Amino acid sequence: MDFARVIIDWYSHHKRDLPWRHTSDPYVIWLSEIIMQQTRVDQGTPYFNRFAEKYPTVADFASAEEDDILKMWQGLGYYSRGRNMHYTARMVMEEYGGYFPSDYNSLLKLKGIGEYTAAAISSFSTNEARAVVDGNVFRLLARYFGIDIPINTGKGKKVFTDIANQLIDKKQAGIYNQAAMEFGSQVCKPKNPHCPLCPLRPGCTACLSSRINVLPVKIKTQKVRERYFNYIIAIKNDCILMNKRGPNDIWENLYELPLFETDNSIEVGSLTAQENFVDAFGPRVHIKSVVGPVKHILSHQRLYATFIELEEYQEQLTLPNYWKYVRIQDLERLAQPKLIFHFFKNFVKLIK
Ligand code: ADE
Repeated sequence: MDFARVIIDWYSHHKRDLPWRHTSDPYVIWLSEIIMQQTRVDQGTPYFNRFAEKYPTVADFASAEEDDILKMWQGLGYYSRGRNMHYTARMVMEEYGGYFPSDYNSLLKLKGIGEYTAAAISSFSTNEARAVVDGNVFRLLARYFGIDIPINTGKGKKVFTDIANQLIDKKQAGIYNQAAMEFGSQVCKPKNPHCPLCPLRPGCTACLSSRINVLPVKIKTQKVRERYFNYIIAIKNDCILMNKRGPNDIWENLYELPLFETDNSIEVGSLTAQENFVDAFGPRVHIKSVVGPVKHILSHQRLYATFIELEEYQEQLTLPNYWKYVRIQDLERLAQPKLIFHFFKNFVKLIK
């Protein structure tokens, strides 16, 4: 079965009439692709129309106020994309003489344009034979060829991209790519695909082996947990209060500063009014300095650490027993996580 011919034939009869399918202008295609990566076609189309009308050329886009672009972007989320687009438009004006690049390799150099977007723009605008592999295409290929390599791995990306580049119709690369994406989104859908009517059915491995519901395979990625650590620097004479961490969490048995973890970022004034803080340091503290938040990335956690130095405090009798005063000159003997150890490298210099 000629895979490319079948999907192009299907596309010519069933494609949706989407506004960016009437242009070969790489700038306009870029607008549509960045917006559509952010949302679904039905929700993104009015945004595309507004942007294309207000900024018909990359020069118009580049000379707009960033605030106006962000305002128009409002509701799409992930605002750095809108900001990156503005940056890219200015770069095109300055470095490409106002001509939006249309070849794959030049496109890849622009901010916010990765392999998917570069393949889409170059193939739709000039028929460069670069296969687009988006979620729809991954699914279509995984099912048709019965490939169970997880699509969200480096190996999966490579295997699927190689296959897609072999399948592409070099004479009509743009149409082929649009067809593959459209076929994936309209026929080979994630749930309840239209198998009975599918023109690829006679050659579809997943359909023939009843594996439609298990392909494509994705490995589960653990969600990144965000945590807010508020560390207290409490110094008495030449000693500093330290906390020894307990089990069942990161950094078991390592030393850090007294910690108040909160669910969200918190103002220092609110933190020092919290009951558990008052229980330890009394109701009247003076703050000497605040450093942070310092972002610290672990494999599945993102920590935001704020270091709050107390000037004056009235230490209470109820200090937790895992806190203890340590002579500042002995600090380096304690095993500390990198976050703390790096902080002290600068801080201890200041107080010595
Ligand atoms: N989603 C992202 N790009 C698209 C395109 N060119 N056509 C339809 N849906 C899309």
